[in-house]
Amino acid sequence: MTADRVVIRLRHDADLPALAASLVRVHSVDGYPVEGVADPEAWLQHPHALRSWTAEIAGKPIGQVTLTSAEPDDEAAQVWRRETGGALADLVVPVRLFVDPDHRGAGAAQLLMSAAMEYARSLHRAVALDVMAKDRAAIRLYERLGARRLDTISHNHSDGLSEPAIVYDFPA
Ligand SMILES: CC(C)(COP(=O)(O)OP(=O)(O)OC[C@H]1O[C@@H](n2cnc3c(N)ncnc32)[C@H](O)[C@@H]1OP(=O)(O)O)[C@@H](O)C(=O)NCCC(=O)NCCS
Repeated sequence: MTADRVVIRLRHDADLPALAASLVRVHSVDGYPVEGVADPEAWLQHPHALRSWTAEIAGKPIGQVTLTSAEPDDEAAQVWRRETGGALADLVVPVRLFVDPDHRGAGAAQLLMSAAMEYARSLHRAVALDVMAKDRAAIRLYERLGARRLDTISHNHSDGLSEPAIVYDFPA
C-alpha cells in the first residue's frame, strides 16, 4: 500500500457509518478511545468541532480527524494555557484521530494531521492535543510532525478510571 492511494477531504455525514464501523475495530485492537464506543456515530460528532477530515482509499472512508475549538474544560487546553500563557481563543485541538487497522502505515494519519494543522495555520491558531501514553503509534506520529511535550497528566474517564496522557503542542 502506498501513500498516494490515500485521499484526504472534508468529512461528509455519509462517511459516518463507515467511520463508526472502523472505530469499533480500532477500539477492539487498540483500546482507543479509552471511554469505549457505545455510540460511535455520536462520538464522532464532537460538540465543538470546527472541521473534520476523512481519509479514503479507493473511495472508502478509512480514517478521520476532527479539529475543535479549545474549551476551558479540555485537559490539553488547560496545560497549554498554563505552560505558554496563551489565550484559549488562539488555540485549536485535534481530536478523534484514528485509522482503520487494515489501512495502517500508508501515511493516512500523517496526511490527516497535516490537513488539520494547515487549517489551524490558516486560522492563525496554535495547536495542542493530548494522547494516551499507551498510544505509541500516535506519539511517534506527533513527534515526527514536530510536537513538543508540555506535560504528562492523568486523564480521568469512565467509572473513576484514569490513564496517563501526554500533552503536546506544535511550535511554529
Ligand atoms: C495512530 C494512528 C492514527 C496512525 O495511523 P497510520 O495511518 O497508520 O499512520 P501513518 O501511516 O501516518 O504512520 C504509521 C507508520 O507508517 C509509516 N509510513 C507512513 N507512510 C508510509 C509509507 N508510504 N510507506 C511506508 N511506511 C509509511 C510511518 O513512518 C509510521 O511509522 P512508525 O509507526 O514506525 O512511526 C493509528 O495507529 C491509530 O488509529 N491508532 C489508534 C487510535 C489512536 O491512538 N489515535 C490517537 C489519538 S490521540
